[in-house]
Amino acid sequence: MLELIVFASGRGSNLMAIQDEIENGRLKGNIRAVVSNRRDAPALAYATEKGFNVIYDDPNGEGGRTGYEKRVLREVERIGSDCIALAGYMLMLGGKFIREYGKPIVNIHPSLLPAFPGLNAQKKALDYGVRFSGCTVHYVDEGMDTGPIIAQKPVPVLDTDDEESLAGRILEEEHKLYPEVLTLMAQGRIHRIDRKVYIDLLDERYFR
Ligand code: GRF
Repeated sequence: MLELIVFASGRGSNLMAIQDEIENGRLKGNIRAVVSNRRDAPALAYATEKGFNVIYDDPNGEGGRTGYEKRVLREVERIGSDCIALAGYMLMLGGKFIREYGKPIVNIHPSLLPAFPGLNAQKKALDYGVRFSGCTVHYVDEGMDTGPIIAQKPVPVLDTDDEESLAGRILEEEHKLYPEVLTLMAQGRIHRIDRKVYIDLLDERYFR
């Protein structure tokens, strides 16, 4: 059973996709809490509706970002988890948080990293003129979308694409890839040695 804490700042569609995979029984996991830096995040409204533990804190509150991360870490440790999954979490986590948490932190990003890290990845891909973009699930380190890559899914860029259409097709793949990676993690099939990640793919379902 993979005990997860999901961090989300916005819409929460990846959070929902993860929860759907738990509810349909494929992902043997449990969302123990949802953390957000935005009180009005739709992700938090969904989490509340689902009856999850909801943790909101203000990064501009006492002690600034340092105080915020300290308080969040205290809550995260109190709740307990095997893994933190960032799903549209719009803040970078500090090194101290990452080190002190000490367990895997993963993120999903809407490009084929290392291309187009940071914000507006879909627009950057369109402006650059690449023929393929996609999504990446990776471990989180202190850099901006620089951690070891676990899995990627390419998505073709069409001549007719605008930012919205490309983002929509990438998002569809995100909703499959992220739960799949967490499922593999729950099964103990993801192994990391420094920057290299090895996955035991014994089940052809994961080749789709
Ligand atoms: C996704 O595109 C994800 O890749 C990026 O932020 C977006 C979050 O969407 N990190 P949602 O909040 O999960 O709907």
